[in-house]
Amino acid sequence: MAEDVFKKIVSHCKEYGFVFPSSEIYPEGLAAVYDYGPNGVELKNNIKKYWWDSMVLLHNNIVGIDAGIFMNPTVWKASGHVDAFNDPLIDNRDSKKRYRADNLIEDQIAKYDEKIDKEVKKAAKKFGDAFDEAKFRETNPRVLEHQKKRDALHERYTKAMQGPDLEELRQIILDEGIVDPISGTKNWTDVRQFNLMFSTEIGSTAGATNKIYLRPETAQGIFVNFLNVQRTTRQKLPFGIAQIGKAFRNEIVARQFVFRMREFEQMEMQFFCQPGTEMRWFEYWKKARLAWHEALGMGDENYRFHDHEKLAFYANAATDIEFRMPFGFKEVEGIHSRTNYDLSQHEKFSGTKMRYFDPDKNESYVPYDVETSIGVDRMFLSVMCHAYQEQQLENGSSRVVLSLPEALAPIKCAVLPLVNKDGLPEKAQEIQDDLKFHFTTHIDAKDSIGKRYRREDAIGTPYCVTVDGQTLEDNTVTLRHRDSMEQERVNINELRAIIEDRVSSTSLLKKLAKEIKDL
Ligand code: GAP
Repeated sequence: MAEDVFKKIVSHCKEYGFVFPSSEIYPEGLAAVYDYGPNGVELKNNIKKYWWDSMVLLHNNIVGIDAGIFMNPTVWKASGHVDAFNDPLIDNRDSKKRYRADNLIEDQIAKYDEKIDKEVKKAAKKFGDAFDEAKFRETNPRVLEHQKKRDALHERYTKAMQGPDLEELRQIILDEGIVDPISGTKNWTDVRQFNLMFSTEIGSTAGATNKIYLRPETAQGIFVNFLNVQRTTRQKLPFGIAQIGKAFRNEIVARQFVFRMREFEQMEMQFFCQPGTEMRWFEYWKKARLAWHEALGMGDENYRFHDHEKLAFYANAATDIEFRMPFGFKEVEGIHSRTNYDLSQHEKFSGTKMRYFDPDKNESYVPYDVETSIGVDRMFLSVMCHAYQEQQLENGSSRVVLSLPEALAPIKCAVLPLVNKDGLPEKAQEIQDDLKFHFTTHIDAKDSIGKRYRREDAIGTPYCVTVDGQTLEDNTVTLRHRDSMEQERVNINELRAIIEDRVSSTSLLKKLAKEIKDL
C-alpha cells in the first residue's frame, strides 16, 4: 500500500515537471541521478532559501561561503575519506547483482520488526479496546521469540560493523539464510570494501595528470576556509559557516528515488566553538534544527531523533532527524559533534596552523565543531511525500492535490481568465504583470476552469485568481484557496497583500525566529 503511494508520488513528480530521471531519452538513462524540472527547481530553491536565511539572516554569527567541488586531493586523505569512506559490498554469483552487506542485514532486522508488528496488530484486532499492547509485547511467546532473534542479530551486526569484520558480515548473511531477492539463492561472494568517492584526473600537460576527487560532502570546503572566513569577517567564537552545494557518492545501491543519489545537494553548517562548550551547542542545534522542520507545519509527530549508537571515533555525539516517509522513518538530516578532529587533521596534513586566538583567554587553540548537515533532495522528498494527497470530493469527483507549505510552493498564484476572449486574457495579463514582482505567478487560459484548478492543485499552487466578466465592471476577482477550495470575491488592489503575507518565506522565518529565540 505504502509502496503504491510512493510509486504514485514518483510518477507525479515526473508528470508535473518536478523530477525527471537523468538522460531518459537514452535506453538505459543514468541510474541514481535525477534532473529537476521547472516546478522541481522552484520548490528546491525555496527549500534552499528557507535554510540559508534561517542560518545567515537569523544568526548574526553565521556567514556563508561557496567553495569549489574539486579540492586538493590531500584534503580527502586528511579528512579520512580516502581510507575509510567505504561501504561493505557483496555480490550474488547467480544474479550478478551487487548489494551492500549492511543493507541486507538491516533489511533482515526490519523483517523481525515487521513480524512483531504483525503479531501486535493481529492481537489488537482480536481484543479490541481491552488490548494492552505493552503487556502483550512483554509476554506473548511468539513476540518474545522474534524479539530475541532480532536483538541477537542486531548485537552481532553492530559488533561486526565496528571493525568492520567483513568475514563476520558474510557469515551473518549465511547464518540468517538471506537470499538474493532476484535469484533467490545464497550463492554469495566474499564481502569487500568499496570506496564511495568518485575520482577523475586533473592537469593540462599530457602525461602529468593527477587523481582528484569529486567532493563527497561539502563540509571540507568549510574547514579548509576556516582561517580565511574568520580573518575576513572578524568573527569571534562561537560562529558558524554555512554552505549549500553538490556532493557526489558512488552509492552501490541507489534506492528510493531522490532519497539515495550519486549526485545530490547538501546544506551544511559548521558551528565552531570553544572546547568544552560543544555539548551545549549540540543540544542547541538539535532543538533549532527540529524547530526549522516543524515550522513548515508538516506535523510534529512525523519527526523523530535517532541518536547514533555507534559514533565515528572522532565524534562525541551524533543524532539524525528522521521524517516519516511512505517507506518508514528515514534520515533527512544529521547533527554531529565532530570535536576538533577536522581542523586538527588539516593542520597536520597541510602544515598550516588552524588555530583561533581567543582574546578573552589570551590563548590559541583549535576550535571544536558542531555540524548540521541536511540533504536538499531528501528534504524535497519529505515535502513531496507529505504534500501528496488523493481526495474524494463531496460532489463525487476526486482530485490529487499537493498541500505544500505555501512558502515552498513552486507557483504561488495562477491567474486564470475564465474565457480566452472578451478582454479577459488582457486583464489577466495586467494582474500578473503587477503580481510577478512579488512572488511566482503564471497565467493559464487553456481548458475549462475546473480542469485548470485541478492542474494547479496537482502542482500545489496555493492561490488561483479567476478573472471574469464582473472583473471588468468592478475590478474584483475570485480568489480560490487550494486546500479548502473555498472561493471569495476580492478587489484586485488587495490581492498582493492577501497572498504575499501567506506565501513569503518572511512569515516562516518570523515564526522560526520566535521558536528559537529562547533556546
Ligand atoms: N558532512 C556530514 C555528512 O555528509 P552524511 O550523514 O553522510 O553526513 C548528510 O550526509 C546528509 O546528506 C544526509 O542526512 C542526507 O540528507 C544527505 N545525503 C547523504 N547521502 C545522500 C545520497 N546518496 N543521496 C541523497 N542525499 C544524501
